[in-house]
Amino acid sequence: MGLDFPVKWVREGKADLLVPAITEIRRSSIPFYNPVTSLNRDISLAVVMGMGKPRVADAMTGIGSRAIRYAIEGAYVEANDLSPSSLSLLLESARKNGVLNRIGVQSTDARAFLSAESAPNNRFDFVDLDPFGSPAPFLDSALAAVKAGGLLAFTATDLATLCGHYPKALLEKYGCFGFRSEFCHEMAIRILIGYIYRRARLQNIFIEPMLSFYADHYVRIFVKVAMNRVVDPDLASGFVFYFPRNKKRTWGNDPKALIDKNQEGKLGGPLWIGRIASSSFIEKIRYTVNLRQDALQNYFRVNKLLGLLQGELDYPPFFYVVPTLLAGGNPPMSELIKILNDGGIRASLTHFDGQGIRFDPGDEEPSIFLARSLNPSHMM
Ligand SMILES: C[S@@+](CC[C@H](N)C(=O)[O-])C[C@H]1O[C@@H](n2cnc3c(N)ncnc32)[C@H](O)[C@@H]1O
Repeated sequence: MGLDFPVKWVREGKADLLVPAITEIRRSSIPFYNPVTSLNRDISLAVVMGMGKPRVADAMTGIGSRAIRYAIEGAYVEANDLSPSSLSLLLESARKNGVLNRIGVQSTDARAFLSAESAPNNRFDFVDLDPFGSPAPFLDSALAAVKAGGLLAFTATDLATLCGHYPKALLEKYGCFGFRSEFCHEMAIRILIGYIYRRARLQNIFIEPMLSFYADHYVRIFVKVAMNRVVDPDLASGFVFYFPRNKKRTWGNDPKALIDKNQEGKLGGPLWIGRIASSSFIEKIRYTVNLRQDALQNYFRVNKLLGLLQGELDYPPFFYVVPTLLAGGNPPMSELIKILNDGGIRASLTHFDGQGIRFDPGDEEPSIFLARSLNPSHMM
């Protein structure tokens, strides 16, 4: 192969992968294998498995960890990466796993790769974008390369920007106001869905969020591409006002009305204020996950994450973090939810944060609502 770095075989799910055997600080010219993101690949694989034998574009395949796993399960994968040495590893892994006949390989810019496949008869059932940092530069070409009814999945790791640490960069890159908050990872997902909705509309297409989650310092979003309107457009152009002092949040579609009513709040948006996933879609993936545990590297974690996500879908956006609302020792989260539910208050955990909670305080201050709803004798 003529590589100037050592390699080794690792196992991920059912795949044998040839990866760089590098333990020292990463050199940018050397391909990269990240075992931590195998959760991302597991969930993506479960989605692909639920599609039968789809034609997949893995636009930034790296060493092909996901392309190989998709192909093992019967997908036909066009794998692309700018790095030729990454693709050398991919080809060795494809040979070892007996899937060379289901993987095509290209080495060009992801945008050129995707645009070349955007003629109506060439489009993919599933396009996977897994960049370092922001997916924004690649979303237009990715949207154009998905068939009507197909799926686009993308990862974003530029969470410092999306979480409001750099509001100017957020405005420049995503056309969005933002702020720092304890629910910023949910904001990141909502900003991205709102953004991709607007990009899709420029091409006269529509998107529907099917699955979105946060894990291990990245967010991952799956949207279905449609030629007709499938969701209420008001959901894509929401604004939120956040009051750090008492943790109140209000949201809606008319920024002027929100500003008039909420002089002290911090403004975020435009962003998505609808559901970040589809319950029936998650149900289908959970079915696949449970049927095909053997294909996954992190079955228990995947199952737990999908369960939490499904449980929180039906609640208002922008979860709360319990210690920011209640002073003093709080009961364990599952006990706290039980106390609320037993008292007739709808509440759920969230996959975003182990101390996060969803409930609807109405117009009341969330901390007062929560304290009032809990039996004080359980608060010790
Ligand atoms: C996060 S890694 C991909 C990891 C891989 N998808 C996985 O799950 O293991 C990002 C990859 O994008 C590639 N890349 C960066 N910019 C690119 C571009 N403009 N076009 C194509 N590939 C690019 C890099 O070479 C790198 O392999």
